Amino acid sequence: MGRPKITVVGAGNVGGTTAQRLAEKDEYEVVLVDIVKGVPQGKALDITQAGPVCGYSTRVVGTNGYDETAGSSVAVITSGIPRKPGMSRDELLTTNAKIVQSVVSELVSRSPNVILILVTNPLDAMVHVARRVSGLPKSRILGMAGVLDSARMRAFIAAELSVPGLDVVAMVLGGHGDTMVPLPRYTTVRGKPISELISEERLEAIVKRTREGGAEIVGLLNTGSAFYAPSASAVSMVEAIVKDQKRVLPCAVLCEGEYGLKDVVVGVPVRLGRGGVEQVVEYELTAEERAALVVSASAVRELCITVDCLMA
Ligand code: NAI
Ligand code: 2OP
Repeated sequence: MGRPKITVVGAGNVGGTTAQRLAEKDEYEVVLVDIVKGVPQGKALDITQAGPVCGYSTRVVGTNGYDETAGSSVAVITSGIPRKPGMSRDELLTTNAKIVQSVVSELVSRSPNVILILVTNPLDAMVHVARRVSGLPKSRILGMAGVLDSARMRAFIAAELSVPGLDVVAMVLGGHGDTMVPLPRYTTVRGKPISELISEERLEAIVKRTREGGAEIVGLLNTGSAFYAPSASAVSMVEAIVKDQKRVLPCAVLCEGEYGLKDVVVGVPVRLGRGGVEQVVEYELTAEERAALVVSASAVRELCITVDCLMA
């Protein structure tokens, strides 16, 4: 059997880095798509030429069309415009909804069994758009945000305590925006609850910095947004799926009653395997945590209503 084909749409900062990370695994075939002529082809060639140095022989194809994507196991969608300083993710809604709509139709018509991982912002609303357009079951459409937001929280805690980030477990639920729901109660370092290791005040500061993690990087870069941690997060989701790892990761998926949320896309812990989203895992939440998740889901719902009107 050949290598699983992974398509990455959008050959910009997140897409290009995602393709590079996937190529370096030396286990996949990678197709990189973008509308700009030459860019996906150039990046694919460049990544291929790094192979002899890095020790991989991944076939990486760059294209402006979709025929080469046929038979993809997973597609990571990063096409769209990123934020500029001062812009919210929600301001990207109209432009990116149109882009995601066309990209999803092209992908699904050639790869009917594909699993879609959305990255384009505003993330949760883009998962909603992809669902509407594709008609795929909810198990095969998910969004990347929780892995990134949790990674940020883990990195901040690791720096605070001078421990390796790998030893920190954290879980951030909710929409990918100001209302995201970091869960300090489910945050541990080598099995110890974070509340035993960090003062309440410092923890609050870390939670705040996590919520504002994307904007902090936008402010520093001044052109564009984060891409190293986002691409790493997307690749961890691809691997959990293709390798049937059954990892539980926070992902944006359609909730149909889980956590008391109905018909709304929002970040919740899910078990990922070969079938995509195999289960929404229900953590026990306090009334306060549950209320925060409801507020976050309401913010996403409003955005989805707006996008539905735009697409009608
Ligand atoms: P970028 O501007 O570097 O790359 C976007 C690429 O999409 C460009 O190369 C552009 O030519 C391409 N594109 C635009 N329309 C297209 C179409 N119709 N078909 C194919 N390609 C198309 O932006 P970057 O930094 O890679 O970010 C991409 C998106 O991901 C943004 O919406 C950003 O906000 C989002 N993002 C989401 C994160 C998350 O946690 N969910 C994290 C980081 C970024
Ligand atoms: C981030 O959180 C911009 O959503 C992107 O970095």
